[in-house]
Amino acid sequence: MSIESVLHENRVFEPSAEFVKNANVSGMVAYNQLCAEAAADYEGFWAKLARELLVWNKPFTKTLNQDNAPFYKWFEDGELNVSANCLDKHLNTIPNKVAIIFEGDDGNTQEVTYKDLYHRVCQFANGLKKLNLSVGDRVIIYLPMGIEAVVAMQACARIGLIHSVVFGGFSAKSLNERIIDAGAKAVITSDGQFRGGKTLPLKSAVDEGITMGGCDVIEKVVVLKKTGLDIAWNSNNIWWHDLIADVTDTCEPVMVSAEHPLFLLYTSGSTGKPKGVQHSSAGYLLHAMNTMRWTFDIHENDVFWCTADVGWITGHSYVAYGPLAMGATQIIFEGIPTYPNAGRFWQMIEKHKVSIFYTAPTAIRSLIKASETTPEVAPKNYNLSSLRLLGSVGEPINPEAWMWYFENVGGGRCPIADTFWQTETGGHVITPLPGVTPLVPGSCTLPFPGIDIDVVDETGKNVPWGTGGLLVIKKPWPSMIRTIYNDPERYKTSYYPVDLGGKIYLAGDGAIRDAKTGNFTIMGRIDDVLNVSGHRLGTMEIESALVANHLVAEAAVVGKPHDVKGESVVAYVVLKGPRPEGDEAKKIVAELREWVGKEIGPIAKPDEIRFGDNLPKTRSGKIMRRLLRTLAKGEEITSDISTLDNPAILEQLKEVVK
Ligand code: PRX
Repeated sequence: MSIESVLHENRVFEPSAEFVKNANVSGMVAYNQLCAEAAADYEGFWAKLARELLVWNKPFTKTLNQDNAPFYKWFEDGELNVSANCLDKHLNTIPNKVAIIFEGDDGNTQEVTYKDLYHRVCQFANGLKKLNLSVGDRVIIYLPMGIEAVVAMQACARIGLIHSVVFGGFSAKSLNERIIDAGAKAVITSDGQFRGGKTLPLKSAVDEGITMGGCDVIEKVVVLKKTGLDIAWNSNNIWWHDLIADVTDTCEPVMVSAEHPLFLLYTSGSTGKPKGVQHSSAGYLLHAMNTMRWTFDIHENDVFWCTADVGWITGHSYVAYGPLAMGATQIIFEGIPTYPNAGRFWQMIEKHKVSIFYTAPTAIRSLIKASETTPEVAPKNYNLSSLRLLGSVGEPINPEAWMWYFENVGGGRCPIADTFWQTETGGHVITPLPGVTPLVPGSCTLPFPGIDIDVVDETGKNVPWGTGGLLVIKKPWPSMIRTIYNDPERYKTSYYPVDLGGKIYLAGDGAIRDAKTGNFTIMGRIDDVLNVSGHRLGTMEIESALVANHLVAEAAVVGKPHDVKGESVVAYVVLKGPRPEGDEAKKIVAELREWVGKEIGPIAKPDEIRFGDNLPKTRSGKIMRRLLRTLAKGEEITSDISTLDNPAILEQLKEVVK
């Protein structure tokens, strides 16, 4: 997206008077008042929310402990259970309200009430208890999107187990690395999954991941029978249905400390292996709930649909936890937006009368393309009048896509919450509130109340509005990352660098605030993290995967703007043998793409691979990535290359293997 186009954007969309009137945060005065409350008494602001929204078994007396900063603790002497806050709490009030409407890939639907879900979670938790697991043990969840994925997460939370969900698109190797890093004792998976009309394997990746070694701690693999696919069976495997066959469907929730880790979720950083982002119980849930309330303006009769998979943070906060804790009715969809055709999302919104719809810009852009080529699947063919609010997440939304979403999906009447946040922030940190904020296409607008977010220079000093800089959060907040599992040092250096004074959280994105309104525009990552179709990938991770191939001597990976995916992956590769050409080059490209798919997952496969006898380096041997980015875009290099050791290499690297 061109930053210029957003900075010069002068279309503004005010919320309608009716929306303002009925909204949970109603009008700019109310918003300003919340921000002022947080500024006047920061801890008091959060303590009040935590008392109002969470059900505590033992109330907290201390709000924030900064003794061991940046390892902050929130509400630390309080005790609660997250699953009880999502389920038990509703048993007396809304037991028969539908919690989940599940729609399978094939279009069949299933409804689960709060009472049903409570029993399913209890029963599975009782099953897990038979597996010699204790409070604090880690469990990997590798399941397709479905009710069971939520049941598994909630069941872990119910008995104090720390789950780590691995997205089904990650490879056996990625699974292996996560099992080892988390020291997981069990894996919960399914025989297979349905996607886009196909039946695909899943458990085979678990088997392969475990046999790669280092997974001796795994005691059990629980297997959900989902597809009936033939699978290999090992002595430590147990069917989900057998595990729960002889247990009751009530289970006392285990009360844990507010700071007890609810989950680890692995995400990419600029260096090394993916990091296990560790979240807390109380602070995390609090923000998931409060953002449901203020950003998504959740009301009793809403039908909420967040299209994210539970393998990502969005699916944690806005599928598995937030909507349930708020007693909402939500859609969970197993399939893909393009099957049986690219009208699937619109058809489902019509069918289930969805009122709040939350998806990613990459999905919107691909559906724009689809409705241009196949007008029958355009949103105008569907009745989308149930919608009242839209959301966007995961990457910058370009103003053109924003306008299309606003007009074609939202009928010009639904505000769009362009929510900026990260795996590490737990929930939204910059976002419009729909009954408050004048919307500007392409801008995520203003801070969520209580989040002290701003833009600074390299020394940590504030920059004036209108000047770009580093996005930082200046005060700790309840749903923040607590540490990187197994690597507290990396937590400190990644997020609290000494250059910025060691006390403010560095988000890793560049940002600029509008000189007049203070609206934020995100300018993209400042590190070597790519955002491909809203999925976060480290260039180093892909480079390591490439150099692990026996043919490859050296590799450098950069991102290139892509009109649907946001960014695409371009890899520059030096082989151990001679630089390949023609069919030989094509063959190696196919092999390397496949290889990266196996090492990390299909989402990380380079879109383009270019071969050189070497990479452009400075005389001291440093790869000049800046030049690689320019070449990837197909632009001429106009910058200074006098420090480049081997300028002749640039010609070779212009050549794309087709
Ligand atoms: O670069 C920002 C981008 O996604 C990164 C976080 O990725 P992840 O941890 O996978 O979480 C994605 C879902 C919350 C950020 O550092 N990003 C996320 N939301 C937006 C965004 N960039 C611009 N606008 C957004 N709304």
